[in-house]
Amino acid sequence: MAWESIDRRTPVFAEDAEPVLSEGVKQKIRAFFDRYETKRAALLPALHVVQNTYGHVSYQAMSEIAELLEIPPSAVLDTLTFYTHFWDHPKGRKVIVACRSLSCQLMGSEAVLKTLKEELEIDEHGTTEDGQYSLLTEECLAQCDDAPCLLIDEKMHKRIKPESVKKLLSDAKNNEIGDHRSDLFDPPSEPAADTNGEIEKTSDVQEMKES
Ligand code: FES
Repeated sequence: MAWESIDRRTPVFAEDAEPVLSEGVKQKIRAFFDRYETKRAALLPALHVVQNTYGHVSYQAMSEIAELLEIPPSAVLDTLTFYTHFWDHPKGRKVIVACRSLSCQLMGSEAVLKTLKEELEIDEHGTTEDGQYSLLTEECLAQCDDAPCLLIDEKMHKRIKPESVKKLLSDAKNNEIGDHRSDLFDPPSEPAADTNGEIEKTSDVQEMKES
């Protein structure tokens, strides 16, 4: 997301609008204050709390965060627009992340990105009018062997060509995967113990000991 700058004299929400942040959300943010020397230092956790609760961080929410942390609203906007994973508007039901690093560039990612923008009629960090897709670019997605590549939510799509973009976007299952990344972080199941209460040795170790 490109940094945004807004003329301070331009109203970005109605002054008499109802507050966005609930008391519960403010309490969650205040709970971080004890962990840091300054309230300002709780800005990133505050942005996470608000985005996790409301799906995005509106300008009004930024202003309320600023008030809570006793910092200028511009400091909140600066930080939010530095990170691609924060949204100042609702993001689409699916998020496309196109790789913008070298291997993918060499293999034609710029043409793929151009086609994506044309097909979706949005720019980077935009959301389609029907709310179906948002588009981001990020550095290497760690799939350089299959460049150029992109993610739709957590699903990796490899060796994408501009002419395959339209079909890819129209595939309703283009974001479906078997195992979600969060599943990878499930605690491992308890290893089996032998009769002495010791961890069972692998056959490899047994073989080495026996040889
Ligand atoms: S450069 Fe695109 S995945 Fe590594």
